[in-house]
Amino acid sequence: MSETFQSQLWRGGFGADYTERNTFDPDHMAAITRHWARLLQCVEARPPASILEVGANTGRNLRAIKRISTARLVALEPQDGARKVLAQDGVCAPADIHDGLGQAIPLADGAVEMAFTVGVLIHIHPDQLEAAMREMHRVSSRYIACSEYFSDKPETIPYRGQTDALFKRDFGGMWLDLFPELKVLDYGFSWKRTTGLDNLTWWMFEKP
Ligand SMILES: C[S@@+](CC[C@H](N)C(=O)[O-])C[C@H]1O[C@@H](n2cnc3c(N)ncnc32)[C@H](O)[C@@H]1O
Repeated sequence: MSETFQSQLWRGGFGADYTERNTFDPDHMAAITRHWARLLQCVEARPPASILEVGANTGRNLRAIKRISTARLVALEPQDGARKVLAQDGVCAPADIHDGLGQAIPLADGAVEMAFTVGVLIHIHPDQLEAAMREMHRVSSRYIACSEYFSDKPETIPYRGQTDALFKRDFGGMWLDLFPELKVLDYGFSWKRTTGLDNLTWWMFEKP
């Protein structure tokens, strides 16, 4: 997989600055944990035994999931500094921390039972997005989830001084357009005003 303008941003100083800002404030971690408790409710009849986060950064989501799930946790993250924190803090086993991009996930077909993103599909250029979603679909044997910024129509939004780094759309619609057989287990909106998280629209899908 060749690098893109966006992946170079995240691997470089722009990504390192994000990693530096990414803290584990207890209130914020509690809010993320509530978000995951809601999402994992959708799969409580058959919880995933292994969960991959694509674009894990320092693992805020994985740490929250760890509080409420016994699943094996796997991280894919292109930012070196963030991967170091994941390893140092023992968020995942060293063998489960991977360098790479969602567009070419270095895992076998069906390697995990759930693959998800939070605020990552929005940072993948629209030309590369289908490849990343196909890769998530390939490596997950059962569930696919994402929590992303929603827009009815694809839009590019200025982000931290960059004009080509944040792309909103109806990601749930795109999942179903690419994989019409996916079952929608649930979807929802995390409202910043009440959750303390960003305004995130989320979906939980199951492969047939
Ligand atoms: C906005 S941060 C979100 C981090 C984390 N998911 C969270 O919610 O705290 C985006 C993360 O995705 C990573 N990333 C950017 N482009 C990626 C790509 N094409 N594939 C996988 N990860 C990517 C970045 O390095 C960064 O850690």
